[in-house]
Amino acid sequence: MAKHTITLIPGDGIGPEIIAATVRTIEATGVDIEWETHIIGAQALEKFGTTIPDATIESIKRNKVALKGPLTTPIGKGFTSVNVGLRKALDLYANVRPVKSLPNVPSRYPELDLVIVRENTEDLYSGLEHIVVPGVVESIKIITEKASTRIARYAFEFAKREGRKKITAMHKANIMKLSDGLFLECFYNVAKDFPDIEADDKIIDNACMQLVMRPEQFDVLVLENLYGDIVSDLCAGLIGGLGLAPGANIGEIGAVFEAVHGSAPDIAGQGIANPTAIMMSGWLMLRHIGEKDAAERAEKAMMDVFVEGKVRTKDLGGTASTADFANAIIDKLKQ
Ligand code: NAI
Repeated sequence: MAKHTITLIPGDGIGPEIIAATVRTIEATGVDIEWETHIIGAQALEKFGTTIPDATIESIKRNKVALKGPLTTPIGKGFTSVNVGLRKALDLYANVRPVKSLPNVPSRYPELDLVIVRENTEDLYSGLEHIVVPGVVESIKIITEKASTRIARYAFEFAKREGRKKITAMHKANIMKLSDGLFLECFYNVAKDFPDIEADDKIIDNACMQLVMRPEQFDVLVLENLYGDIVSDLCAGLIGGLGLAPGANIGEIGAVFEAVHGSAPDIAGQGIANPTAIMMSGWLMLRHIGEKDAAERAEKAMMDVFVEGKVRTKDLGGTASTADFANAIIDKLKQ
């Protein structure tokens, strides 16, 4: 029996291409993993008549860890987001997104290193919308003391574990005094238990400007769901693009590792997608399952490829395919 069993969801669009490259690279570290492949989303709807099959959820619950490619969510009626559904089904309440500049990758901030901790279960993503009268739609934002306290505590514990010094809560409590006000109050209540970590807050609009102009002032950010979603893409832009931003969805039941980007239908099937973000999500997964040494070796191999700068995908101005990039990392791992 393999040492680890991990649920693998290749996903849609570029998903299967970047997941295949990632699995090969992880296997090249020598970690003993058995992959349980499952489908979800539009593919599952066609095959099983449901977007989130019980078998997929059961597999993640059993294995406690999944590596997932991006899923396509058709816009419009009749198809709720599978990503949101999965996060809810597994109560994956903390979305952790490290934002770190890579060597030799053109970006506005070559020294940037911050981490976004996004609340993943409520806010406007509770999907509670209705038509009040024709032409008037109400969308309900839910913020609870329980979820706000839980995400703040996760962020402080994460900061403590990772040796980070400061956490900034981003909010709009000047306008949404009750909902964002509660989020902020919970943040400062939890902060009292962590006197060694500096806690401050910024109003989200100012925070966005500060992120673009002076991002080095930030260390760990904690945000509600919607702000966290938007600020994640903004931060991906600061380090050179969506192909470089990894992520982890963490809960008590299990953890799902995935890139920040989507299924990129415009480049799917061409073998040119950048697998960096999903690979880095894979390294986060290796750390999560206790394979720190393998994660560090894989990270170093990838950094060496970036430092050399010879093998880079099209989005970074190169000509390498997804598979070429994986091969370059695997060659380094073998050295
Ligand atoms: P997207 O992230 O898929 O693509 C935005 C742009 O970035 C495109 O030009 C794409 O080619 C490029 N890009 C993204 N990832 C790349 C990579 N690894 N290498 C090179 N270029 C890359 O966002 P979009 O187009 O808004 O969404 C497409 C689909 O993905 C939608 O159905 C959306 O719902 C879904 N989506 C899924 C997510 C998930 O499963 N976690 C997250 C975000 C979007």
